Amino acid sequence: MANCTTTSRLIYAKKKGLINNFSSKVCAIGFNDIQCFETLGVKKLTICHPEKSVIKKAIALNHLTFVDLNGFTTRKIQVFDQTFVNITKSRKETLFNIAVAFFVTKIDGNIVINGDKELGIDFYCKKIGTLTNLIFFSKSHGKISISKKTKFIPNEIKIWKNYGKYRKIFSNYYTLPGCFSEKEIDDGSNLLVQNFSNNLYGKVTDLGAGWGYLSAKALENNNRIKEISLVESNLNSLKCSKINVSSLKAKFYWTDLEEENLSIRNCDHVIMNPPFHKGKQFTQSLGFVFLKTAKKILKKKGTLWMVHNKELNYENSVNDLFQNYKYIDITKNYKIIKAIKCF
Ligand SMILES: C[S@@+](CC[C@H](N)C(=O)[O-])C[C@H]1O[C@@H](n2cnc3c(N)ncnc32)[C@H](O)[C@@H]1O
Repeated sequence: MANCTTTSRLIYAKKKGLINNFSSKVCAIGFNDIQCFETLGVKKLTICHPEKSVIKKAIALNHLTFVDLNGFTTRKIQVFDQTFVNITKSRKETLFNIAVAFFVTKIDGNIVINGDKELGIDFYCKKIGTLTNLIFFSKSHGKISISKKTKFIPNEIKIWKNYGKYRKIFSNYYTLPGCFSEKEIDDGSNLLVQNFSNNLYGKVTDLGAGWGYLSAKALENNNRIKEISLVESNLNSLKCSKINVSSLKAKFYWTDLEEENLSIRNCDHVIMNPPFHKGKQFTQSLGFVFLKTAKKILKKKGTLWMVHNKELNYENSVNDLFQNYKYIDITKNYKIIKAIKCF
């Protein structure tokens, strides 16, 4: 779905003559809604984004991307005439993306930073304003700031480039900024691990595997596992999981479960902590997609192990799909469902 606030801000900037030259080489970093660049009339667009759905859309629209549909890097970093950065929920990811913009834009080219107030665009306008000259305007509950790339990149911005490196969090796991639970292990995932430990065997799939915590623990605590598949839509998370789950039993799939079918079938177990946000919105719809996928890929009598936040309610869907289910653990914040595929 198009993000109207981003589009209206970009159109406004164009009308006011603050951004122009759309036949030149443009790079867009972190934009889910790449259609807004079609609306602007950008011709040579390169998209940089970790989500599979965005890369698929970009390729379908004949834009360039840094990775192909298998997640392999296809393009060397080049110089762009202007670069657009959309801020994300992760401050470190955004600062890294801004640093990249400063490195890949030609001298005197525009660096345009877009974001909603509630995601903290004011912070970035202030910060960049102390380091370079910039102009900005407010529109549609957010702001756009425009700076010119200067010959010398300020030292602080050079430091932000380090935020794109793998970071070790405790227990030797590596994460990248923007991944789910990038700083620490999620409490819900931890609870799920306690419940499935010593119960998994055979063929296992981890849906929405993130940086691989559930799979790493599954392999550590269940030596009867023969094969484990990690399925994840965010490429940065999947890259981390390849480091965190180094076992030869592991297979990795860069897949968006909303848009793509999995070839995996006949699993003995599915483990999952499904997402409950889509962009800014709190939603159960992704959880339903995950539940349907789990049912499809489990063998008959296979078992689903799922954790979810207590305020969400998946009971009707689990009942429709599995019938044989029970809550095996309920804490202040989480519920664990164990469900058996009956048909
Ligand atoms: C709540 S996190 C759980 C991550 C990991 N399993 C853990 O326990 O730490 C949900 C994960 O699902 C991924 N995800 C979101 N939408 C997805 C989709 N449509 N297809 C596949 N994965 C998705 C997110 O990127 C995120 O890593």
